[in-house]
Amino acid sequence: MPDYMFLLESRLSPEQRAAMMRVQELSSALGFNVYLTGGTVRDLITGASLRDLDFTVEGNPSRIARELEKGGAKVLVEDEKLRQVELLFAGDCDGSISAARDDHYVRPGTRPEIRWSTIMEDLRRRDFSLNAIAISLNPASRGLLLDPTNGLSDVERAEVRALTIHSFTNQPVRLLRVLRFAARMGFKMEQRTQEWFDLAIERELHHTITPEDAGAELQAAAREERPAVVLKAWEEHDLLEAISPVLAKKHPGYEAIGRLMKVREDLFTAGFRPRLATPMLLAILGRLKDREQASLLSKVGFRSAESAAVLEFEEVALEAQKELLGKKMKAPIDAYRFLEKLPLDQMAYLLAESNKSAALSKIRAYLNKWRPVRLGLPGVTAQLEALGMPRGPKFDNVVEQVFAMQLTGRGKTPEEREKILRKITGIKEQPKKKEKEKKPAKGTDKAHAAAAMGSAAKHKHAAAKADAKHAAKGKPARAKSAAKHHAPAPRGKTAPASKKRHSRK
Ligand code: CTP
Repeated sequence: MPDYMFLLESRLSPEQRAAMMRVQELSSALGFNVYLTGGTVRDLITGASLRDLDFTVEGNPSRIARELEKGGAKVLVEDEKLRQVELLFAGDCDGSISAARDDHYVRPGTRPEIRWSTIMEDLRRRDFSLNAIAISLNPASRGLLLDPTNGLSDVERAEVRALTIHSFTNQPVRLLRVLRFAARMGFKMEQRTQEWFDLAIERELHHTITPEDAGAELQAAAREERPAVVLKAWEEHDLLEAISPVLAKKHPGYEAIGRLMKVREDLFTAGFRPRLATPMLLAILGRLKDREQASLLSKVGFRSAESAAVLEFEEVALEAQKELLGKKMKAPIDAYRFLEKLPLDQMAYLLAESNKSAALSKIRAYLNKWRPVRLGLPGVTAQLEALGMPRGPKFDNVVEQVFAMQLTGRGKTPEEREKILRKITGIKEQPKKKEKEKKPAKGTDKAHAAAAMGSAAKHKHAAAKADAKHAAKGKPARAKSAAKHHAPAPRGKTAPASKKRHSRK
């Protein structure tokens, strides 16, 4: 029995793992069999990043969704007829839960009759073999791969294979889908699939793609990691028209798409994983006039709120830019607080499209300097604790004050930070006299001897120090290092980190 559980668990983020465990638990409590399916399994097998978790249950997922909501999940779309829920699991990971079903077509190309089914029937009704694989999450067969149509071998051959001759007739949108998957994965169409595809185009089935399906594909293209390769594949096959004749005529905004992709890479490097579907959609439609964009979105079935989110996005981002350039944002800490709350897609849009250098340099400072300083704040916390300040609101306030100073370039070294911390808190340094008393204890044999010699000690000790430089190199060196180690431990710990930050600037 191939065990895909290990592979799966090693690829899931902690949030995704928690979501999977919860869905498993809830399904088991309701007596439903549950499987990971579709895109999740395909991406797992091909090594692509796992963007979302798609579950299929042999039962109605609505009660599972209700329970998940109680734990902080957010239901985005619920289709009661299809028993399908799209949601944002707690921890901000995307996913869906669908009831296993069979789409029964009385005649090819007619509206299917939905029948609740087993997982095997569900897998067989799907579009392509690479999407028809599941992993069992049930106790008795956990980790078992279900691959009734041999999708694994198609993945190995790098081919997209449609499951029946009626695949495109039953759902013409699959003409767009087959090109999207092939372009995304660098696969080709399997030979018979290619023949069925050509036949469907000859019969002009692409003209029968419903506007809603076309809209869903447009959104899917905007969510792609490399939207341009998908859009080009559609253009090469004259299928962009199926989404919008105006878009086909004016072409997607490839330059704007490229700029946004570059920004996405920079954001990844800075440790962010932004969702850029909205600005990407705007980039795709960038060559169309405002009213053409509005009409396209309404034609492909966007609801008015969805259209508004896209059409007003630029205005909203520019408004944010205006605020960022305003008087209230002069101090870095104020700009930091503002940018911390600014949605990442707006930040990405500004980075890609703005020509206001002052706004851009603030955003870049936020990503590359301020955020790393923020992430290094536990070092300041440890220093403050080492100084003996008890935890509490006052403690947090001091840390925030130091952070604000760090953003202006102060407190770069642990020593500087300690000075700042002492000044803010009023915690005095230990009296120097004490340190002097301590030194001899850790000092050299000569120092002990000097102490023992009473009144002449001071002079002789000084002389011994001077002599030692020439005569006995090892001993003074030890004394020096002992003095260094006298510094509090947290400072020693934070020093290399602060050096790193320093060199980055
Ligand atoms: N599906 C299908 N026919 C369609 C649309 C979807 O058979 N016209 C099936 C596929 O098996 C697909 C699953 O439903 O895997 C979920 O569809 P969707 O979420 O659109 O695709 P994903 O495979 O999850 O791909 P993506 O990575 O683009 O999200």
